[in-house]
Amino acid sequence: MAKPLISSTLFSFPKLLLWSLPLLFILIYTYLFSGLDTKLSTLISFISSAEKALNATAPIRHGASFTPDFILRVTEEPFTQSCITKQDVILINGTSPGPELRLKEGNIYWIRVFNGLENKNLTMHWHGLSMAVSPFSDGTPGASQWPIPSNHYFDYELEIEIGHAGTYFYHSHIGFQAVTAAGPLIVEDSGTPPYEYDDERIIALADVFEKMDKEIEDGLIGNPFQWSGETANILVNGLGQLHGSSASPGCELASISVEPDKTYRFRFIGGTALSFVTLAFQDHEEMTLIEADGNYVQPVNVSYLQIGSGQRFSVLFKTKPRSALEKTQFFMQVETRDRPTLTRSYAILDYKLPSSKRVPLLIVPRLALPSGDPPLTLPPTTLGWLDQTLLSLFPDPDFPPTSTVTRRITIRTHQIITNNSITWEQDSLPWIETFPTEPYLVSLYKNNSLLFPSVSRAHENEGIDPITRVFPAAIGEVIEIIIQNTGSDVGSIDVHPFHAHGAHYYDLGSGNGTYNPVENEEKIKGLQLAKRDTTMLYKYSEKTVPGIDMGWRAWRLRVTEPGVWMIHCHILQHMVMGMQTVWVMGNEDEIMKVPYEHIVGYLEFGGSVNGNETHDPHVVHFKGNDL
Ligand code: C2O
Ligand code: CU
Repeated sequence: MAKPLISSTLFSFPKLLLWSLPLLFILIYTYLFSGLDTKLSTLISFISSAEKALNATAPIRHGASFTPDFILRVTEEPFTQSCITKQDVILINGTSPGPELRLKEGNIYWIRVFNGLENKNLTMHWHGLSMAVSPFSDGTPGASQWPIPSNHYFDYELEIEIGHAGTYFYHSHIGFQAVTAAGPLIVEDSGTPPYEYDDERIIALADVFEKMDKEIEDGLIGNPFQWSGETANILVNGLGQLHGSSASPGCELASISVEPDKTYRFRFIGGTALSFVTLAFQDHEEMTLIEADGNYVQPVNVSYLQIGSGQRFSVLFKTKPRSALEKTQFFMQVETRDRPTLTRSYAILDYKLPSSKRVPLLIVPRLALPSGDPPLTLPPTTLGWLDQTLLSLFPDPDFPPTSTVTRRITIRTHQIITNNSITWEQDSLPWIETFPTEPYLVSLYKNNSLLFPSVSRAHENEGIDPITRVFPAAIGEVIEIIIQNTGSDVGSIDVHPFHAHGAHYYDLGSGNGTYNPVENEEKIKGLQLAKRDTTMLYKYSEKTVPGIDMGWRAWRLRVTEPGVWMIHCHILQHMVMGMQTVWVMGNEDEIMKVPYEHIVGYLEFGGSVNGNETHDPHVVHFKGNDL
């Protein structure tokens, strides 16, 4: 069962010392002024409570008496998606997308992830949630944790703090696995949601490729470079039908089933590998956007949505009254943007009519692709969608004004093309799966001849420490992170959905050219900008001069969560090609707050934190120990 949050900070080290002081005085006092019996019993009780506190983070055996809240079993099987059958598709509990996880704010959950893949590593990332309380659990293999070895499992501890109700998803963070190894994660409000609706539906988007994952990964890092190919189709809740195919199992349109005259919360999840999409509903032009990336926003009326990989939005969607329904099926039309070719896909908004004697049932045709021209004409442009328009629903006392900004860090992305291979570099350095060779957090604990990245050293180099390739930041700093798009070695430009782990940032907007803080300040003055975790870096033309600044995205972040966090483009191809950065937030004491001897099991690949058929794992309950 999920446990409500309890404060383990009660037992943290500096606090432990403070707590022990009065006890120590009592101990000395009783020792001096009482009989031997009392002396002994006091001594024993003091020792045991101190020992208990000291062991607050000692690993606990997850044996037969331990029941995780959820179990995700990842396997590789033959599978058909949108009329494309492949031999090896990574599935979660036998499906893609994986099962919907529903968590409630204010609780702690344990999720057991089984790696049932033959000869492949696996991790799981809880996209949009901060894993600040549980180091080694963010699912990032080069940054926070060793992957789970084949035929082993790892128990993830998730703390869901109040204020995080919203739409999320989970996915593997290795290679191209997240193309199918992903599933919706919904955090429910602990109380009544701030918006009223009758029911909700999840609309999770994904891509499907003709090539197998391995072929795609090898091609992207290979010499000669081989592109993955464009997405064959955009799946809605795992379903889609390729143009020219006839509907059959594994080859059918998704149905979003609704009843007349109701208000739904549609939760959109941008789980695509590559596609940046625009979508809208036929004959239903009014939607009210209420949530972006797990944060409630002030209502914004929209007629279409634009969703990049990693982004989530909720809209309130009013269905038509029965009297206004001349038909019961309407298309949701989804189209890719900013790619060399346009992929167009559909799902069906499917009215289910409660049977009534007076009105005869409408004849419902089978779900099918539209014939002829697409039913909708969607806006062709993407630039600046809802920038500086999404405002926090609740007044945010923490919003850091410009005067408090301590540093402005620019991540300048650049595509390098050298003798037949292609890499994405950030401030002239890529972060690929072969660098580093062990998770950075593990290296810090083991101090594998790694220098702890220093803010001052990084300060002289655009914010990145050139030795460790890490961006350091101190707790309490207010930083601005500017992601700057530049022309590639051949002058091409691309769009990138940039995602941050660890914490949500205030999105300051985007624009063409180079970021100008003075100009942008004019636009954001007085606005309670919403917090986000994934926002778009756009492209403003098809071609430019190699290396020239070509569009920016700006974030502001008050650094509060110690840990090793990634900030990266969420396009899986680009990640594989190096478009990732790693941040160390906090100093050594803040990041490595758990005693070394308690986390030894996390420090080796296949360490004692991994369980299998014959071996129970021993894991730290970073939060929610039963002490
Ligand atoms: Cu969903 Cu590191 O990302
Ligand atoms: Cu990218």
